[in-house]
Amino acid sequence: MGRTVTTRELYDEIEAGTVPLILDVRNQDEFAAWQVEGPKPVPTRNLPIWMAVEQLDDVVKEIPDNTVVICAHGNGSDLLLDLLADEGRSVRNLDGGTAAWSELLVPKRLPDLPDGIVAWQVHRPAKACLSYVIGVPGKRAIVVDPARFADPYIELAATEGMTITNVIDTHVHADHITGGPELAERTGATYHVPIEDTGKAPTPFANEPLADGAEIDLGDTSIHILSIKMPGHTPGSTCISLPGSFLLTGDTVFVRGVGRPDLTGRAEELASELYHTVHDRLRPLDPRTTVLPAHWSFDNEIGDDGLVRTDLASVFSSTLLSEADMVKFIEEVITSLPSAPETYDTIRLVNSGRKEASADDIEFLEIGKNQCAASTTT
Ligand SMILES: [Fe+2]
Repeated sequence: MGRTVTTRELYDEIEAGTVPLILDVRNQDEFAAWQVEGPKPVPTRNLPIWMAVEQLDDVVKEIPDNTVVICAHGNGSDLLLDLLADEGRSVRNLDGGTAAWSELLVPKRLPDLPDGIVAWQVHRPAKACLSYVIGVPGKRAIVVDPARFADPYIELAATEGMTITNVIDTHVHADHITGGPELAERTGATYHVPIEDTGKAPTPFANEPLADGAEIDLGDTSIHILSIKMPGHTPGSTCISLPGSFLLTGDTVFVRGVGRPDLTGRAEELASELYHTVHDRLRPLDPRTTVLPAHWSFDNEIGDDGLVRTDLASVFSSTLLSEADMVKFIEEVITSLPSAPETYDTIRLVNSGRKEASADDIEFLEIGKNQCAASTTT
């Protein structure tokens, strides 16, 4: 094995269960804020670089072969590799460190789609975020909830000869910086984000909010993508449907749990809207509809096929979603809320065009896995 492992190679090895140990040599507070997590559990140990150097004899004895050493940008860990190599140990360095891991996107082809349509669920493991590319080969594609890196989406669409015509954010995200406006600008696509979330003041980017029931044509007259308003997580939350097949639920419902309604400061009001969304808008849909959410919280939400998906029947089998009493539903959602990260208000302002952020700001704002779910059970 080589001395360096790329982020994608590490992801694949974690998925295959072949990583014996991740040795994270960042400081304890950086490690506590977020860690490298893949699609399967992986043994991980934190030992700050200065302690690893001080305790080198023990490290030499304790770590297994092929351990992957990680630091913030891949430099400190590389120095440790030199010291370990001098002691005859063969371990590997994560190229680019956690900064590179934060940018990793892994596209996964979605099976079981109607004829003539292709789609990918794009995983961003550092944030536990999911985005989607859906289209008709040789014709048009839409991108939903893109991360802030345009190239992978453009490249995916190109593999099937598709032109990206619509870029959609299901809501103004609070946990990550959207790539929607940039991707739309680069591809000439129309960008859509709910105006209930951005506010009515003009945004610095072009926006054509989708109305409830709006249809998007993918260039094949038999296939229409449908926009369905599902307020609750945010006032403007919108789900994207291919009727009879799947529903991109954004942060409305996840494989386990629902989107937290408190991030815009109106927890009770939006919890009540979420109740009506669940019972009036989701419940009437075909229970066999595949649910494709915008996040996961725990790796046990990732299926054996590597995809994060379920069906509406399973979503409704949870005690929370089957709760018919609105008061109890609201109470249960509100009492289950974890505290929101301090950065979330700033991220919402950036994503709605009301604040600018430098590259350093963005790296700081995006630290850590999303905390968009309420009432999530492991
Ligand atoms: Fe989110």
